[in-house]
Amino acid sequence: MRVTQSSQLLPPVQRGPQITVTIDGQPVAAFTGETIAAVLLAEGRRRFRHTLKDGAPRGLFCGMGVCFECLVTVDGEPNLRACLTPVTDGMAIETEAVVRL
Ligand code: FES
Repeated sequence: MRVTQSSQLLPPVQRGPQITVTIDGQPVAAFTGETIAAVLLAEGRRRFRHTLKDGAPRGLFCGMGVCFECLVTVDGEPNLRACLTPVTDGMAIETEAVVRL
């Protein structure tokens, strides 16, 4: 779910141009300027990956690039932080990938 209207006390929501990315092969609308994490959350995805050790689910935690809980694979490149990586048109995002450190 995306915010479409701000509180009357705040300026209106401003978005960049609409683009399309894929999440696990499914095309999804996104907006320039959003992070991968914002797009995943807007699509209702809370689980970005599972740990290699015990398969525990991981998702957005710190939201500012410190904890490394939000790792995803982008265009075949593993272990990118979803909370810091802006989306670009045509980007292929994979969640649930096995993360090998
Ligand atoms: S949520 Fe902590 S690094 Fe992305």
